[in-house]
Amino acid sequence: MSETPRLLRALAGETLDRPPVWFMRQAGRSLPEYLELRTRAKDFISFCHNPEMAAEATLQPMRRFPMDAAIVFADILLIPGALGQEVWFEAGEGPRLGELPDIARMADAVEGSTAKLSAIGETLARVRAELEPERALIGFAGAPWTVATYMIEGRGSQREMARTFAYEQPEKLDALLQVLVDSTARYLVMQAKSGAQALQIFESWAEGLAEDVFERIVIRPHRAIVEQVRAAGVTAPFIGFPRGAGALVENYAKAVPVQGVGLDTQASAAMGQRIQAGGKTIQGALDNLLLRAGGPALDARVDALLEQWGGGPYIFNLGHGVIPDTPIANIARVVSRVTGKPVKAMAAE
Ligand code: CP3
Repeated sequence: MSETPRLLRALAGETLDRPPVWFMRQAGRSLPEYLELRTRAKDFISFCHNPEMAAEATLQPMRRFPMDAAIVFADILLIPGALGQEVWFEAGEGPRLGELPDIARMADAVEGSTAKLSAIGETLARVRAELEPERALIGFAGAPWTVATYMIEGRGSQREMARTFAYEQPEKLDALLQVLVDSTARYLVMQAKSGAQALQIFESWAEGLAEDVFERIVIRPHRAIVEQVRAAGVTAPFIGFPRGAGALVENYAKAVPVQGVGLDTQASAAMGQRIQAGGKTIQGALDNLLLRAGGPALDARVDALLEQWGGGPYIFNLGHGVIPDTPIANIARVVSRVTGKPVKAMAAE
């Protein structure tokens, strides 16, 4: 059997006997062993910057489930921190960011930002050394617009302030996006050189954008990141995930030179097939609420996804991350159904 990880074969455009499977947010609070590990870190950001702990968190779901890929344990909000904006997590609430720094000063910080994220490179190297060769390691970053929404609003939100900012201060937003493109591209190059074999760009908040705005603040920055990473000699495939883009995900698939396109829960069977026919691998799009709910409806939906998209290059995943109180048995059941491997044997309990 070929040693090339299934995930990379799918991203190279192969239609496989069964798709590779991994889940966004497969590491983290859905696993009791993560919650235990987490008590040993001062706070979440320090956890992410500790390669030993972050590598352990990355590997925890790999021990429990026969996932075809690991995703490095980190967060999309490490970049604002590396650019000089204060970032912390309020327990039980979510991220909080200090005042948006002067953009020219952040532009000066781009050059040095990757060095501040070197711990994530160490995490990747540690994980790659431990992971079986047939399981791929994914690096990631937040997309410029999504990261900018947190930087502008100072927290998770409905993003009205950020979208208004895009209209009222277009030049300032473009300058901020450019800083994020440049720092993110360097960060992803560093991740690839440290062992990441595929790179995912999380655009978690692509919804509600008019077509011209989507072109300007989603498509253009994503394209610029891929081009910069390629110019640095990195050949690792990209997965772009413009969550919430609706029909505009087809514009995205045509215009951004990624190999894989992440689809969210709403994506229709026909739209996914059109993107596959256009030469891209698709990834998604099981509802994370259905994963949590379980039961016969979950099995039926897994089978339907395999049926509707398994005839082309496809990566089985969710339409958004695993919800913290998702039963482990449901995750095991789905991964077993997709891979045909019994999962109980791999349980860590
Ligand atoms: O397993 C994996 O997917 C790898 C780790 C990972 C985390 N965050 C760990 C995390 C990844 C890929 C992310 C991406 C991320 N972070 C996104 C994009 C994906 C998405 O969910 O839309 C976003 C928007 C963030 C920002 C973020 N980080 C928020 C809004 C929060 C708080 C809300 C929440 O879900 O907890 C975080 C915290 C965070 N990131 C945790 C984890 C495990 C929980 C922190 C803790 O353990 O206390």
